[in-house]
Amino acid sequence: MTRNRDSAAPFAIIAAAGSGERLGAGGPKALVEVAGRPMLAWSLSALRSASSIGGIVVAAPPGFEDAVADLCEPGERVIAGGATRSDSVSAALGLIESDAELVAIQDAARPLVTAELVDALVAALAEDPDAAGVIAASPVPDTLKRAGEGRVIAETVDRSGLWAAQTPQVLRTEALRNAVDGSRNAATDEAMLVEAAGGRVLLHDPGAPNLKVTTPADLHLADLLLSR
Ligand code: CTP
Ligand code: MG
Repeated sequence: MTRNRDSAAPFAIIAAAGSGERLGAGGPKALVEVAGRPMLAWSLSALRSASSIGGIVVAAPPGFEDAVADLCEPGERVIAGGATRSDSVSAALGLIESDAELVAIQDAARPLVTAELVDALVAALAEDPDAAGVIAASPVPDTLKRAGEGRVIAETVDRSGLWAAQTPQVLRTEALRNAVDGSRNAATDEAMLVEAAGGRVLLHDPGAPNLKVTTPADLHLADLLLSR
């Protein structure tokens, strides 16, 4: 472990509190095994190995705090998540008392995250003092259709300039706290809140698979990729 001991080093939040309904594994998705370890353990070890990161807080599925704590190392903290992803992130954010200027948010559902990706995002934000954040994202490769009534194509959407947002998302802590305070509706990512508040958020292509495990097919693919 190469944990950054600087008290102002970026903190990481892992959003792991979801129930994983679409995966349908009969238990919380973050604890489902991928390539021999609970899905959450992959994000934990990537963040632990990221030299830029100073501490980790996990938002756990309510009722599974102990199971999550068993995967954590001393100093890493666990809090029960909320009803929505942004409630879970807010709860975790409330535990961070350090003077860290940056916070990294990671979904437990993206087990292919690497320490190199986390460090590259932190470095990209450090290089651009006017940016409020930088997120992992990939250009959309498919031709996009908007569906009308009855699954009839209503239009083809121009995909140029369209990117699919992922995690990690590294944001200035102050920008995130302000954006979270001012938000009423459930955002699907944190960058969205910071953008809505006028922040400039940068896109960073990981250049490697960083898929989100949503369905059983995704789980199978992640398992194959991580077993190599
Ligand atoms: N998440 C969370 N708190 C919630 C809902 C989601 O921390 N109340 C987290 C999930 O644990 C996951 C990430 O947000 O790591 C992305 O959410 P998603 O992939 O939708 O996971 P689930 O909500 O668990 O899955 P589903 O929507 O199929 O139930
Ligand atoms: Mg969900």
